[in-house]
Amino acid sequence: MNFMSTVSSVQSDVNALERIQALESQYLLQNYARYPLLLERGKGCYVFDSSGKRYLDFIAGIGVNALGHAHPRLVKTIRAQAGKLLHTSNLYYNEFQGPLAERLAKISGLERTFFCNSGAEAMEGALKMMRSHGRKVSTEKYEVVSLNNSFHGRTLGALSITGQEKYRRDFEPLLPGARFVPANDIVALEQVVGDRTCGIVIEWIQGEGGIFPMNIEYARKARELADRHDALLVFDEIQCGVGRVGKYFAYQLADPVVLPDIMVAAKPLAVGIPLGVIVANERAAKSIGTAMHGSTFGGGPLACSAALEFLNILEGLLPHIQNVGEYFRGKLEALRSKFSFIKEVRGRGLMAGVDLTIPGKQIVLDAMHEGLLINCTHDTVLRFLPPYIVTEKEIDRAVRILTKVLKTAAKRGDAS
Ligand SMILES: Cc1ncc(COP(=O)(O)O)c(C=O)c1O
Repeated sequence: MNFMSTVSSVQSDVNALERIQALESQYLLQNYARYPLLLERGKGCYVFDSSGKRYLDFIAGIGVNALGHAHPRLVKTIRAQAGKLLHTSNLYYNEFQGPLAERLAKISGLERTFFCNSGAEAMEGALKMMRSHGRKVSTEKYEVVSLNNSFHGRTLGALSITGQEKYRRDFEPLLPGARFVPANDIVALEQVVGDRTCGIVIEWIQGEGGIFPMNIEYARKARELADRHDALLVFDEIQCGVGRVGKYFAYQLADPVVLPDIMVAAKPLAVGIPLGVIVANERAAKSIGTAMHGSTFGGGPLACSAALEFLNILEGLLPHIQNVGEYFRGKLEALRSKFSFIKEVRGRGLMAGVDLTIPGKQIVLDAMHEGLLINCTHDTVLRFLPPYIVTEKEIDRAVRILTKVLKTAAKRGDAS
């Protein structure tokens, strides 16, 4: 079967899913365990599968589709830019990197940006900055302290500081000098951070780890220790940042704010076009000089123009995210009082986790069957990352579906 006939068969064939599954099982690396769903198009907070069935999308491409699907302003911006200039490389200037970096500086409280294409790539760059910063002081200053249960990406460097054995074990040995400490344990942090530390890396809300927020006092202590030992403090805002919690960045939840030396962000930044950033203060930015780092695709005009338009829209959405986020968590808390197998509801803004005493996998499948897309992280945590434009009505609908599938789980005796 040639490529064109494959494409037309997707459009006309009700068995499109099976056909695509067969092709993928033959030709793709078998690294993903996908849900049996072939998504074809989206509109607002809804996506449609190949049979035309509609789903309320409360996972939004794992936190990427912050404006839902086919947002008219994004479509307009991307169409216009695609017809003008797609790629320039970093040999030349394009009209968007400067304005976007200025915007990021204003909203983050930091100063200089490097553009790349994904979260892991941003974290790799941040690791190089930590290493290069430490090396200026001493060749012994190369340790990076990060937290148990963290997730920072799947490249070798990012994996090395990811505090979950299951992601790391097949690839060891990884980078030397990674030190792990339990989250929110100030004493442990004080014991590990020292003069050999070149960086401390923290997710303000652990995402893949099961939606665990950081204590503000803990983050302040990390800031103090980084300063005391001349290390760089890095906040990984890849999942919890760029509006997700109702602030531009999750570290802005603290008042007064705890500023990092480096912040990395990606996922929703260009709302579906790959874009990652490292944003640094002057002190950290000095660690990278000419030709020490780079990217062919990073900061291309398509991604940067989309990001600028997204940030224009996001400014007005932040209060909405806070309001609907609270509304949603209130509803989830109400479910907790109904179902004894809900242990805890965690999160901020539109990043929510429902921690169960039972596995979440079947509940996710049942929800999908009923027209709601969510996922499960850490086996027992139902994770919700809905688009920022979600309405209370859509939340009500999601909660109705959730109630139904939780009732089914209770009847089925999942908890026993
Ligand atoms: C906190 C955090 N850091 C890093 C990453 C890696 O990002 P990417 O998948 O874009 O490489 C993720 C992805 O889920 C993440 O949640």
